[in-house]
Amino acid sequence: MHMNYDFDRVIDRSESLAIKYVRRKAVFGREDILPMWVADMDFATPDFVLEALRQRLDHPILGYTFRPRSFYQAYQRWAARRYGFDVEFDWLTFSPGVVSALALSVLAYTQPEERVIIQPPVYPPFFETVKGLGRQLVVNPLIRDGHGRYKMDLDDLKQKIDRHTKLIFLANPHNPVGRAWSAEELNGLARLALDNDLIIVSDDIHADFVYSGYKYTPIASLSPEIARITVTATSPSKTFNIPGLSTSVVIIPDTELRERYNEKLNAAHLWLGNIFGNIAFEQVYQKGDAWLDSLLQYLEQNIDHTVQFIRENISSIKVWRPEATFLLWLDFSGTGLSHDDVKDKLINEARLGFNDGRAFGQQGENFFRMNIAAPRSVVTEALDRLKRIFG
Ligand SMILES: Cc1ncc(COP(=O)(O)O)c(C=O)c1O
Repeated sequence: MHMNYDFDRVIDRSESLAIKYVRRKAVFGREDILPMWVADMDFATPDFVLEALRQRLDHPILGYTFRPRSFYQAYQRWAARRYGFDVEFDWLTFSPGVVSALALSVLAYTQPEERVIIQPPVYPPFFETVKGLGRQLVVNPLIRDGHGRYKMDLDDLKQKIDRHTKLIFLANPHNPVGRAWSAEELNGLARLALDNDLIIVSDDIHADFVYSGYKYTPIASLSPEIARITVTATSPSKTFNIPGLSTSVVIIPDTELRERYNEKLNAAHLWLGNIFGNIAFEQVYQKGDAWLDSLLQYLEQNIDHTVQFIRENISSIKVWRPEATFLLWLDFSGTGLSHDDVKDKLINEARLGFNDGRAFGQQGENFFRMNIAAPRSVVTEALDRLKRIFG
């Protein structure tokens, strides 16, 4: 037990249509794997959220509803309180999901065939959104030092920018490499964007999962000049385990950029949102501090436990302690096995469902991503299986 919240409780999700479960056969070829892939958590959504949703169900009509002013104010106060980020009310707009905000930004700010920068290894929809909308990818891989720490390669990026390059997709904090970018790193990137008339589209969905010694810096908070070229998309969906409610917020300080974004949002008729998402969003940002603080302690212990266990017991797997996110980016190159052989052993011998690193770009060769946002007993079971096969 941690404070009043029971993160140790194992909850059966197999009958809940959770993607992590229903897609097991399609993705891994078998049902009997321990699913530690999709980035949602195996913890209950906070009670006060469930209670607010139950109360809404006491009203029998689920018609069209809209977000009150207090919806956006809840985010403003959260951003000020948790990140020291002062956001004006007028800067805020909506998206169902963070990925849909990335897609709407591509539509709003680029023409077909224009170019969008990504920094792999990175969350697969970054590739899919750009390519799916008929734009070109500019691939600016992160560089990994000898200790497993990734940094940006701005020299490489400088060379790759041309007059058709319009946007950069930033992941801050970064999935899967677990970096909470420093103000200095973000300033370097922003300087390049300012010099080359690029718009920064920052996906900050992991903003709340930052561990001791590190800090989340919203890139738009660095200066008014940077804020003017930045679109930030975020959501409480990861933080409070409510991604099924599809409710996100988009911060666009510049009036013209905001209008162009809203045109696409309205054209696709995506402004409406949904009743339950609207309620939950406001609830969590108003009341979620204590729950989140407790969750972060639990996750940090899961990370410490996992990193220590792997270092002590499985020398063929290299692991780096993430600064942020609940995702571990495991390097299997020391096993001496091919990527396909590791994958086969993970699935068919260890019966573990991790994300295949290749989905994050070719930089993910020999890597698999493990989601540790689960009760400690589940994480321990996964580690035992890993040791049995790779230890
Ligand atoms: C970096 C990143 N962005 C976006 C998402 C998903 O956002 P949404 O479901 O709001 O589209 C995820 C989920 O894993 C993520 O890791």
